[in-house]
Amino acid sequence: MVLKQIFDTDSSTYSYILASNEGNAIIIDPVTKDLEKYKNIFQELDVTLIFSVETHTHADHISGSGALNEIYGSKILSSLDKMDSRAHRIQDGEMIELDEIKIRCLHTPGHTDDSYCFILESENPNILFSGDTLLIGGTGRSDFQNGCPSSLYESITKKLFTLDDKTLVYPGHDYKGLTVSSIAHEKNHNPRLGNKSKKEFIEIMANLNLSYPKMIDEAVPLNKNFGMPDKD
Ligand SMILES: [Fe+2]
Repeated sequence: MVLKQIFDTDSSTYSYILASNEGNAIIIDPVTKDLEKYKNIFQELDVTLIFSVETHTHADHISGSGALNEIYGSKILSSLDKMDSRAHRIQDGEMIELDEIKIRCLHTPGHTDDSYCFILESENPNILFSGDTLLIGGTGRSDFQNGCPSSLYESITKKLFTLDDKTLVYPGHDYKGLTVSSIAHEKNHNPRLGNKSKKEFIEIMANLNLSYPKMIDEAVPLNKNFGMPDKD
């Protein structure tokens, strides 16, 4: 398997391409304005895109999953309410399998109520794609889109921090140029979580004083239709 991490400079989003040894590919959290970049990678690796996976309804960029479906016919795997022939609704614990690639879906509400993380179990160590649930030295915010700091704490401490310490963590965003972490490192050094109680975490989250997400009003309605204008 080949793993590529692609950075979108406007939204500091990481997308991931996983290419199997048989020439098939999965993309996680594609950004619509980076379709050309992905096309070049698919060509370079000589792979066919089969699945486009969404960690949640993004508020900071427009998803490329709908456009990729139109170009490549790739199936969209997500937990969005809206489902049609383009998409499959993932469930907690479900396995996504593509050739030798095996990914377990983990429902991790808190950043949004539809947030999922994905564990690539066919690698050693395993790899966690943590979306905006767990960031390197941080977490996603929990003040929009049915976010909830209490659920976020539970998702991280009970579902992610119980994974093997060696599990690598690839986040949905980074704002400092960091690319990868591990469960052990985040358990011990994440300033919002390391040895913090749920009460302390909720207090930290309530005092972040973050500004209103600048793309939320444009991005969320589009992303409810996988980044495409709704024709209905
Ligand atoms: Fe997000």
